[in-house]
Amino acid sequence: MKSKIARKIARTIVLLVKYLPFNGAMRLRNAAYTALLKKAGKGFNICDAVTIVSPEKLALGDRVSIHEYSYFGGGGEITIGNYVAIANNCSLIPSSHNFESRDRYIKEQGGVDQPIVIEDDVWLGSKVTVLGNVTIGRGAIIGAGSVVTKDVPAYAVAVGVPCRVLRYRPE
Ligand SMILES: CC(C)(COP(=O)(O)OP(=O)(O)OC[C@H]1O[C@@H](n2cnc3c(N)ncnc32)[C@H](O)[C@@H]1OP(=O)(O)O)[C@@H](O)C(=O)NCCC(=O)NCCS
Repeated sequence: MKSKIARKIARTIVLLVKYLPFNGAMRLRNAAYTALLKKAGKGFNICDAVTIVSPEKLALGDRVSIHEYSYFGGGGEITIGNYVAIANNCSLIPSSHNFESRDRYIKEQGGVDQPIVIEDDVWLGSKVTVLGNVTIGRGAIIGAGSVVTKDVPAYAVAVGVPCRVLRYRPE
């Protein structure tokens, strides 16, 4: 567990370099996130303009790359395996609102945390949205613009809204 002051410094560094696209800024960002994340693997890269609402609930494996403008929401835990490629503008949303009652505002009905698991060697294309309570299996590919609402099996190529399996990668 890192000290409170170390975490404060790391958060400040993240804020200062969040939108800087240079390699030096990325190295600083990666170092700061190493102090903030639940788990930080070796050799990950977080590009500029990425937002991680609750870094203490995000576990990253080795050699993960997260590209520009991707968004990791708060709520449930997000677990990312090794060698995962997350393209630009992806959203991972590990929470939802309760909305059973029509008599109360949705905003006043509370929320629910919903974990997300992305296994090793997954590629999320540009602008993919992953909703909560979803596991994307090892080696799967999710096509650009897809909205993943259910688990995706290992080695599937899945696309669309909602995301469905198109085929499986050859053995
Ligand atoms: C998912 C993907 C890898 C599939 O590639 P592929 O196997 O060559 O697929 P094809 O181009 O042969 O398409 C097969 C079918 O799926 C459809 N399809 C492909 N990608 C799709 C997508 N992202 N969303 C919806 N449908 C898609 C095609 O229109 C085609 O439909 P049809 O059979 O009715 O004509 C690719 O389409 C993709 O989305 N790549 C992501 C690229 C990206 O985001 N790069 C970011 C930089 S890392």
